[in-house]
This record gives sequence, structure tokens and C-alpha cells, in this order.
Amino acid sequence: MLSTSGKMNHRQRGSILLKIILFSISLTLVFTLFANLLPQVEGEAPVEQQIDPGALTADSFVALGESTFTGKGSCTLCHNNMGRAPDILQLNMVDISAQRLQDDRYQGDANSVEDYLRESMLSPGAYVVKGYGKKGTKDTESPMPEVDKAPILLNNIEIDAVIAFMQAKDGHEVTVALPEALPVPGEEIKAQAAPVTAVSAPAENAEVALGKYICTACHSLAGSVSPVGPDLNTVGDRLNRDQISQSIIDPNAVIAEGFFAGVMPADFAGKMTVSELAMIVDFLANQKANQ
Ligand code: HEC
Ligand code: HEC
Repeated sequence: MLSTSGKMNHRQRGSILLKIILFSISLTLVFTLFANLLPQVEGEAPVEQQIDPGALTADSFVALGESTFTGKGSCTLCHNNMGRAPDILQLNMVDISAQRLQDDRYQGDANSVEDYLRESMLSPGAYVVKGYGKKGTKDTESPMPEVDKAPILLNNIEIDAVIAFMQAKDGHEVTVALPEALPVPGEEIKAQAAPVTAVSAPAENAEVALGKYICTACHSLAGSVSPVGPDLNTVGDRLNRDQISQSIIDPNAVIAEGFFAGVMPADFAGKMTVSELAMIVDFLANQKANQ
């Protein structure tokens, strides 16, 4: 690097300067990366996304749809590459929807792709994709929860945003109108950020924790009904505390009979606080037939 005389010529000085600049840039990159990662590791206050329809642009509406799809909407819990629901992120849903509308098995009222996608979320049984129906119903009933009901509870703006996302992601025209007015003038609509993907404040009791982690989207429990996973209303008769705890921390260690491995998310342990896990285990251990 340095010439034998110990003095630098211009070229050498220039190359050292360049190295220093490159090094600083890479340091900045590393710090930016950490700055983005750290809050998630340490846990943040619940992130609330304020939607101000007046300020929405088409792009931010699609972005809201994407974050709703992977976050609050819990769509990726089922719509992923594990094979238990169509992998929407990899599929061209606009073309598929057009085919559904022509299909003899279609029983809904939609006349457009946009309406088909909305109907798929609000009454999933209008068309049940072959091979994905509730067990024993020969694909006449859908295991997908209605997304405007508990525990998912999307509002109309979020549902429209998800449709916009499903259209835009494969380069199709977005046909949903941007929301113009708030449902109640002046009222702010709050979209609670992803219960499962974002770290939010610890739940104060078991029922809240079960909602926060969307357990009831897949399990019948505490008044809600879902066929995706085993009915948990009497789980306390079948499993002891250790077994319940293991089912949550390491769902694939023991697979409940008649169900598939890989469906229940395996990352709850990393997302729950110790107290949330304890409350949920307690609650489930007390779910018994004679109570
Ligand atoms: C608990 C699992 C589950 C969740 C959560 C879920 N889905 Fe589904 N979804 C399914 C299954 C299974 C099917 C296939 C059976 C059917 O056609 O109803 C399906 C079907 C669909 C279809 C129709 C696909 C087609 O090929 O016609 C759309 C669109 C859809 N889901 C969108 C969504 C969106 C958007 C969300 C989130 C807001 C969501 N789903 C959440 C399980 C789920
Ligand atoms: C995306 C769907 C899904 C979600 C979300 C989900 N589960 Fe599951 N769960 C399943 C499936 C499918 C099984 C059966 C396969 C297995 O044993 O892993 C299961 C199994 C279980 C079992 C064992 C039941 C038995 O009879 O052996 C328990 C307990 C359980 N889940 C609790 C929970 C809790 C608590 C949550 C929320 C923190 C949750 N699950 C979220 C799908 C889900």
C-alpha cells in the first residue's frame, strides 16, 4: 500500500480515502440494519397505524393491503407454502378469480373479480377450492374464517385494501375505489398492527392473549368455532399442562390425530411473553367437559 519510501503518492492517498469512505458507508448500513431490527427484538409499545383516508394514495392503499394481509388479517397463517390453503402470494388471484366465476361449482353472487375476492373473505363457502374444504364435507364447506368476524375483525377499508393488494401484486389494475369518507365522519379508524408478526404489549388475561395470537382462527374455543385445528373446548381432559405447553412451544413434536403437521405456527414461543404462555396454558388446562 505505502511506497517503500514511506511517502504516499496521490493515487495511494486517493485509494485510502476511497476505502475510508466505503468503510463508513458499510458501517452506516450495518447501523441502519440494527436500528431496524432492534425494536423488534426488544419489544415496542403496540404499533397503531392510523389510517387517514384523506391522505391515502393508491400506492399507500396497496401497501396497507399488504401489511393487513401479512399482519392483522392473519392471511399468511394459512395462505403460505405449507399447502393447507392456496398460496395467494404465489398465485395470480385476478386470473384465478375470473376462472372461479365461470366454474359450475361457484355458488356466490359476484359478477367481477373484485366482488369475488371480497366474497371470498366475507363468505368463504361461496366457492370452496378443490381439496381445501372442511374434512368430510367433500369441498362443500370452507375452513376459512370470515375475516370481518372475531378474531380477525377487518373493517371495510382494510378488506378493500387487501383486494387492492391482491390485484396490484401481479400487475393488474386496482379496481377498488380509494375510501373517500370515513364511516363515521371525523372518527379515526385504527388498524391494530399485526398481532402475531409485531411485538406488542403483553396481554392482560388468557382470553386477550388467545385473540392476540389468533388461536381461535384455527381452534374452536371460548365460543368461537374453527375446524382448522383440534377443538380445544375440552383439551384439559386430553392433555396435561406440560403437554399443552409443548403443543404451543413445539407444535410439531406431537401431531394431534387427524390433523396435519406444519399448520400451527411454530414460532409462538419466540413471540409470547412468559406470562402470556402461562395464562394460556392455565386457561386451556381448565377447559374440561364437566365444567
Ligand atoms: C384459518 C385459515 C385461513 C385464514 C386465516 C385465511 N384463509 Fe383464505 N382460505 C383458506 C382456505 C383453506 C381456502 C380454500 C378453501 C376455500 O376456497 O374456501 C381459502 C380461500 C381463500 C380465497 C379464495 C381462493 C380461490 O382460489 O378461489 C381467498 C381470496 C382468500 N382465501 C383470501 C384470504 C385473505 C385475504 C385472508 C386474510 C384476510 C384469508 N384468506 C385468511 C384458509 C384461510
Ligand atoms: C394456523 C392455524 C393454527 C393457529 C393460528 C393455532 N393453532 Fe394450535 N393447532 C393447529 C393444528 C392444525 C393443530 C394440530 C396439529 C398439531 O398437533 O400440531 C394444533 C394443535 C394445538 C394443540 C394440541 C391439541 C391436541 O388436542 O393435541 C394445542 C393445545 C394448540 N394447538 C393450541 C394453540 C394455541 C394456544 C394457539 C394460539 C397461541 C394456537 N394453537 C394457534 C392449528 C393452529
